[in-house]
Parts: sequence; structure tokens; C-alpha cells
Amino acid sequence: MDYQAVLDEVAAAVAPHVGRGEVAGYIPALAAVDPGRFGIAVADIDGGVTGVGDWETPFSVQSVSKAFALALVLARDGESLWRRVGREPSGNPFNSLVQLEHENGIPRNPFINAGALVVTDRLQSLTGDAAGALLEFLRAESGNPAVSFDHGVAASEAEHGDRNAALAYFMASYGNLDNPVPTVLDHYFRQCSIEMSCRDLALAGSFLARHGVGRDGARLLSRSEAKRINAVMLTCGTYDAAGDFAYRVGLPGKSGVGGGIIAVIPGRCTLCVWSPGLDARGNSVAGVAALDHFTTLTGWSVF
Ligand code: DON
Repeated sequence: MDYQAVLDEVAAAVAPHVGRGEVAGYIPALAAVDPGRFGIAVADIDGGVTGVGDWETPFSVQSVSKAFALALVLARDGESLWRRVGREPSGNPFNSLVQLEHENGIPRNPFINAGALVVTDRLQSLTGDAAGALLEFLRAESGNPAVSFDHGVAASEAEHGDRNAALAYFMASYGNLDNPVPTVLDHYFRQCSIEMSCRDLALAGSFLARHGVGRDGARLLSRSEAKRINAVMLTCGTYDAAGDFAYRVGLPGKSGVGGGIIAVIPGRCTLCVWSPGLDARGNSVAGVAALDHFTTLTGWSVF
């Protein structure tokens, strides 16, 4: 496959979508990002990486981090996480509170904010430094030691983080957090603030295309755990748009309000696309369009 030619064609096709949508204004530090940016990268399972546009520009990974945090917890802890968080699509916005009360403080899945807070809480218990463990993992798997937190973005989100605080305190009231709420929030906001480029994220997510095998050839996850993460990404990775994403793209994917999306073609490659303009459900408008074009052009999808 000539990835460069395919990505060039994808970039040309989605150019009219770039700049559409709204940047994530509820985190003021993200509102300053130029909505006209667009980049896409594909990392082949053999370690080669190809990109076009702003594919080497770091951006705020936000909820894309949730796929990696889940992988770290499953790798260390196995299936016991599923006693504390479900794995069904929520059909509700990523920051919704509504299901938690009816469902005893157990979030629907690990990718909505409530579920991600539980995963970060568990990672904190397992490592003593959830955000630090995640940063180390992302540096190692991307091969980029410069990957870092953006402390300004983390502080900006903390300052405007009442909704996440509400979710965390509510779950704590059901006994579903082991660490103090301020600790969990601090690690969660720093986890979300990590800055990476499309290149970094496509490489870091390669273990999901390699059925659980990491950059250095060591197994990070069992084949079945890798399959499970990809399955949850397919059903829950784009929140209340997961059905539409599966319909258009047909791949496991995980989006973030920084405008990034990773998508996995098991056995072939991992993609990352970035464009900051978001649709009403918090997914990158040009990013989804680009992945839609990519799978249409290549015929690659899980379906
Ligand atoms: O907690 C939040 O609201 C953000 N740090 C992350 C949300 C997010 O990226 C949702 N994704 N589309």
C-alpha cells in the first residue's frame, strides 16, 4: 500500500471540512487552538510511519489518553476492572451524569469521563503515579522522549472542572473510587493534558494493531486483551456518536476534544488524525471525514 499517496488523497478530499465545527471552548486553554489545522499519520505494524499536513505538530490528546490508560490497567490487573466499570455504549454525552445514579455509581464504559476517572483511580492504586506511568508508557511506545504534560491545559481544565469533580464525588459516594477525589482529578487532568503529534499517537497505538505486542517486540497485552480494547473502542470510543462512527469508518477509534482520533486496523496499521474543529458530540469533524475516506479508499475496515 502506498500510504503517502492514500494520505495525500485523503487530505485533499477533506480540505473543505477543515475549520468546520467548534474548538473545545469549555477548556479555555484549548479554545486558543487554530481550527484550521489538519494532520494524519499511519503507523504500519512493522514500525514505519507516514503522514501529511500537521502530522508532526503536538496537540492535546485529551480523551485519546483513555484508551492507553485502559490498556495499562488491563495489562496489570486483568479482568477485575470490569467489576467497577461496564463496557456498554452509554448513548449519552461523554460528561453525562444521568446514568450513574440508576446504575449504582458504576459507569457504563471506561471511555466516558466517569469510567475514565475509575480507570485513572485504579491506575493510581496500581502505580502510585497514574499520570506519570501513562506518560512513561506513551514516551516508550511512541519512541519520543519529549512527549510531555501541558501544565497550562491541566490547570485550565482543573479550574473549569466542576463537572468532572461532580462525577468523581458522586462515584466516591458509592465507594467506587479508592483514592481521594482531588488526587484522582489531578492525575486525570494531567493525563488528558499530554501533548502528542499524530506521528507519536499512531506509533504509540501500534500495539493495538499488533494484537498486544509493543514497540520493542515484548508483549504488553494478551491477544485477547488487545481485541477487547479494540472492541470497546468500536462500541464506546466516540461516545454517543459510536454508531455513526462505526457506520462511516468501520474501525475501532478513540477521540478527544483536542481534535485527535486514533483508529486501529488490527493486523495492519494504526492511524491518528487531528483537526481541532469538533461536532456537537465532541469528535473532530475533519478527523472523522478523513478516516471515512481512508477506509473507503483502501477498503480496509473490520467489516
Ligand atoms: O474531561 C474532559 O472533559 C476532557 N479532559 C476530555 C474529554 C474528551 O476529550 C472527550 N472527547 N471527545
